Amino acid sequence: MKRIVAIVRDSRFEAIKKALVDLGCGGMTVWEVKGRGKQLGIKESYRGFEYCVDLLPKIRIEIVVKAEQVDDVIKAIVENGQTGSIGDGKIFVSNIEKVVRIRTEEFNDDAI
Ligand SMILES: Nc1ncnc2c1ncn2[C@@H]1O[C@H](COP(=O)(O)OP(=O)(O)OP(=O)(O)O)[C@@H](O)[C@H]1O
Ligand SMILES: [Mg+2]
Repeated sequence: MKRIVAIVRDSRFEAIKKALVDLGCGGMTVWEVKGRGKQLGIKESYRGFEYCVDLLPKIRIEIVVKAEQVDDVIKAIVENGQTGSIGDGKIFVSNIEKVVRIRTEEFNDDAI
């Protein structure tokens, strides 16, 4: 099992969510977050002064899937999250040791 954490643009979130549901991935946790990437936020000019907005609002999606679903999920997030401009976001993948569905006490793949 793998955990996919994707930091994406607010404006792309609905399309990404729909694509994930179409793939059969319904379960997810979503946060409104602030972050920055390589550009350390953006520099904004106002009346001749440059202001540094160093943390920008993003959406963080956490989704735990069966290992064989990982590539499809990444593809769906990239295809629906990409605008081509800086700040499209990033995807992090890590291993999950155990999943328990509390109601039924099922484990692992059965619990996802
Ligand atoms: N190395 C990182 N560790 C943790 N979070 C990150 C990292 N890089 C990016 N993020 C998160 O992803 C968001 C979007 O990052 P962003 O797309 O700007 O990355 P980037 O590497 O600067 O790529 P780009 O050049 O396309 O802008 C950030 O606001 C931050 O929340
Ligand atoms: Mg960036």
